[in-house]
Amino acid sequence: MFLQRRNRILRNNASIRSLVAETTLKPSDFIAPLFVDEGENIVFEIPSMPGYYRRSIDGTVKEVKELWGLGIKSILLFVKAADETKDNTGKESWNPDGLMQRTIKAVKDAVPEMIVMTDVALDPYSSYGHDGIVLNGEIVNDPTVEALVKMSLSHAVSGADIIAPSDMMDGRIGAIREALEQNNFTKTGIMAYSAKYASCFYGPFRDALDSAPGFGDKKTYQMDYANRIEAIKETLMDIEEGADIVMVKPAMAYLDIIREVKNAVDVPVSAYHVSGEYAMIKAAAKIGWLNEDKAVLESLTSIKRAGADLIATYFAKDAIKLLG
Ligand code: PBG
Repeated sequence: MFLQRRNRILRNNASIRSLVAETTLKPSDFIAPLFVDEGENIVFEIPSMPGYYRRSIDGTVKEVKELWGLGIKSILLFVKAADETKDNTGKESWNPDGLMQRTIKAVKDAVPEMIVMTDVALDPYSSYGHDGIVLNGEIVNDPTVEALVKMSLSHAVSGADIIAPSDMMDGRIGAIREALEQNNFTKTGIMAYSAKYASCFYGPFRDALDSAPGFGDKKTYQMDYANRIEAIKETLMDIEEGADIVMVKPAMAYLDIIREVKNAVDVPVSAYHVSGEYAMIKAAAKIGWLNEDKAVLESLTSIKRAGADLIATYFAKDAIKLLG
């Protein structure tokens, strides 16, 4: 048989494959999400996220040092607010001595070069488990944005490098940017969860922070997964309002959205490989239905190939070890 072109030549062995690989993962691609709890010496394994933990500040600082040693340059902080601090205003979220504020300071003191990103949304602080303030059974936009601005400023005061609003209220990026400017936080960045879908894949995360909505769902603020063009609208608006980095979330069921966003914008794109995506791989691996290590690398590579410059993933540490 005579063939002019044989594509298998470039797949012949591992050396040639690595020579022509279009996508490669590296430690600085990853954002490591961390769950923080009150107390000391607390290490709690999240039942629906085996191998992932919620830690008190002391253990979180140790973990951040280890991540830094592995080459990870950014973490994304989430805190589990104590039940007695929760209310419908979310005011604990801007308490200068709150758990988030203390964690930011402790981490920046220990590893000043680590880029500290902080989740901004009311759900962990809300007695209703919603990302915003509830009035007559509705999540009200504008009063929520005022609360998010206070929360963001208090993160900036505590030393956060990048504020990451995950709430999907309208106008919050512009309001947060304006407040940062007015208060001279000209070096604080914003990573907007721009195309965040109302997804069942957040289930294990809500176990981790005990933040499941007390009534209804999040469909009046998070996006409908039927929609694609709307993702571009949301993202372009966030950039106009001042976002430095934009995000698509979840990742694997939304690779088409990641690519479209990547093609439409001139800022870095991140993707959040969320808790349910972590749990699926862990569960299948546990019963021997998938090879976990291979599933992790294939999943993360596909997210990067789709167009993500940064990937928030609970597999960050594992992936780096696998990459060798
Ligand atoms: C809070 C928030 C959520 C996630 C990140 N920030 C949950 C939600 O919106 O209900 C999900 C992350 C994950 O599932 O890993 N607004």
